[in-house]
Amino acid sequence: MPETPLERFVRKQGWVDPIGSAAEKATNATYRALGPAGTPLRNLMHGTYLLRHPLHPAITDIPIGAWTVGVVADYAAHFSHAIPESAGDIALIVGLLGALLAFVTGLTDFTDTFALERRFANAHAITMTVVILVMTLSLFLRWFAGAGAHPVAVALSTIGWLVLLLGAWIGGHEVFAIGYPVNRNAFVESGPEDWTPVGPEVSVPADGMVMVEANGMHVLLARNQGAICALSDVCTHVGAPLHEGSLQNGVIVCPYHASEFRLRDGRCVRGPATMDLPALHVRETDGVVEVKLADPLHEP
Ligand code: FES
Repeated sequence: MPETPLERFVRKQGWVDPIGSAAEKATNATYRALGPAGTPLRNLMHGTYLLRHPLHPAITDIPIGAWTVGVVADYAAHFSHAIPESAGDIALIVGLLGALLAFVTGLTDFTDTFALERRFANAHAITMTVVILVMTLSLFLRWFAGAGAHPVAVALSTIGWLVLLLGAWIGGHEVFAIGYPVNRNAFVESGPEDWTPVGPEVSVPADGMVMVEANGMHVLLARNQGAICALSDVCTHVGAPLHEGSLQNGVIVCPYHASEFRLRDGRCVRGPATMDLPALHVRETDGVVEVKLADPLHEP
């Protein structure tokens, strides 16, 4: 599909790359400076803990919704006097508080992007930072510049809201067009719905990982205290082949961004991935390993 002019424009903005590198370094240094609390906090911001789903897109609904309400309230107050001017101010504040959390969660996700997804993430982050600054200036005018400045403050938040729509479009493009960070396991169309042989038991190493194919699905096999475990070989973050990573104390470490999954059940225990790996049952019949999906692929 040919690029739209807007896609091409964003893709060509190479000048933003150093800004992105600086933001990545600063974010990583901040988490490191937090010591033992850094990793759990980072997992929380990714959504690996508690939500078990990317947190940033959920949080962005707060500023987008609040600022949309704020713009409507500003004009409703101006033209009808049915609601007070303070309604728009309150919505602006709620949006700014939500935007701060969106900023932190977004920066945390940003550190694991690269190539084209990094370029669009850069553009998204810069656009949203401009929006936060414009909205903050609007709030400052509402609070400190007197009633005469209120129309200017409303104009500013209206402009900020329009730029917000552009930033939201870029963020949506990052996910829906580029596919960052979509769970690739969602696109597996076939797998071992019933017991399927995948090779001799002796082919599974004592302390490593192998990938086998089971009815079209890439399956990782490894031993946990001697017992063979089977999981999807596809990382739920952006699809790395997990058998190319490492196995440390019963935990698989992804070769791309070091997400960690428990071997015994596929539980994601460290981000940036947020979702668990699809697990498979394992049995041995006459020295042959057979696997079967623990849960059906696409049935409700
Ligand atoms: S692909 Fe990013 S952590 Fe696995």
